Amino acid sequence: MNQFEAVHAATRSGAARSGTGTRREEHTFRGNLSSTRHGWLRLTPAYSVRLVQQLLASGSAQPPFLDPFCGTGTTLLACAEHGFDCDTTDINPFLIWLARSKVAAYSPAVRAEARAALARLCRAARRTQPGLAWTPPIHRIERWWSPATLGALSRAFAALSALRASSSRPALDLLRVAFCRVLIQCSSAHFGHQSMSFAPAESDSAIASSGAAATTSAALERERVAELLAAALESVLLAAAQRLPGTRRRVLLADARQLHDKLPAAHYGSVITSPPYANRMSYIRELRPYMYWLGYLADRTRAGVLDWTAIGGTWGSATSNLSSWVPEPGVPPLQPEIEARLTAIAERSALLSSYVRKYCHDMFRHFSSLAHVLRPGGSAHFVVGNSKFYDVLVPIEQVLARQLEQAGFRAVDVTVLRKRSSKKELFEFVVGARR
Ligand SMILES: C[S@@+](CC[C@H](N)C(=O)[O-])C[C@H]1O[C@@H](n2cnc3c(N)ncnc32)[C@H](O)[C@@H]1O
Repeated sequence: MNQFEAVHAATRSGAARSGTGTRREEHTFRGNLSSTRHGWLRLTPAYSVRLVQQLLASGSAQPPFLDPFCGTGTTLLACAEHGFDCDTTDINPFLIWLARSKVAAYSPAVRAEARAALARLCRAARRTQPGLAWTPPIHRIERWWSPATLGALSRAFAALSALRASSSRPALDLLRVAFCRVLIQCSSAHFGHQSMSFAPAESDSAIASSGAAATTSAALERERVAELLAAALESVLLAAAQRLPGTRRRVLLADARQLHDKLPAAHYGSVITSPPYANRMSYIRELRPYMYWLGYLADRTRAGVLDWTAIGGTWGSATSNLSSWVPEPGVPPLQPEIEARLTAIAERSALLSSYVRKYCHDMFRHFSSLAHVLRPGGSAHFVVGNSKFYDVLVPIEQVLARQLEQAGFRAVDVTVLRKRSSKKELFEFVVGARR
């Protein structure tokens, strides 16, 4: 079976089973949860580790591998588990830290160090102490965590920060991963596919109606944070104990439109990746609780600046930047059929139309750069979803297929992977090509 047939076999079996709940999850992040270090932290658009594993196991995709849109490091980790060399890049420094942590080696001594240090975090979380230690400048933080839970988190985080002087970096990383997991487990945020909502806060009058009940409930919340921290670290340690084969793996902070600046020319045998979709999902927005707590974001201005560097970024100032954005020279025009769709979107919103245009423009720049680092004959596999704005469907997979050809790739083809949501016409595809 050649590598295209392998992907298609994998995707066909996924597509055939896509109607059933758990099978469908094999092609999304939820399908990763039970699998080793893959489940360390959630990112809504993380793709299926099984799809990557099937491709690698087919033996037809050639190392060294490259994932230019690392995200949570699914491709990187799957390659490491299978003993393949892999490099990966992302624009988001938090994801760079996460991916590096996911493929690091954790000796028994390091794991014992992290377990011993956990006691300090749990003691700090349980402490009854008026006021808060440091909390991050997240807008309306009270929507994320109740006062008692936030207090426990902030004390645990202060204890974690205090360990910096005396603990090894890998032990601290394990504790940070566990802390991040607990941030979400005890938050009031509900994550939907692309959006997030918050559980309504308890009203002040309900809390005031019983001082004793409030005190008990605060104690329970502190205890819960401590217990969640202990459980999260145990699960992280279990996965960290699994040794990865000694492959070459590099995780670089880099722009996928400038890969040729940082990566060797004509080097990679295959690309397995999932670029952002043109759906206005912001990874910075999605990841902001982790990023603010761990110090990768200090304020909203920086969040907007970072989102503007992301392909498809659209949060905060990234949106206002769109109105003055002008295309760079050298990017070929879109197909007339796509132009017609952008015009239809522009009738409802000129800004959204520019958003899609810039997305396509940036993806072409990515393909042009990728063409320099993929070796002749090398293969590329892009998992991507189409989009709909108002009632206008944008067949992004067709745009990307055409752009790959324009950037010098051949044997381009598009396969349906799964239906994406209850919305009619929204699918995920694998766009494949050869250099
Ligand atoms: C769909 S996610 C990748 C998910 C990944 N496959 C996983 O399993 O977690 C797309 C990623 O592209 C990154 N990204 C967006 N613009 C980028 C750019 N210009 N250069 C590099 N990475 C970028 C985002 O930060 C995000 O992590």
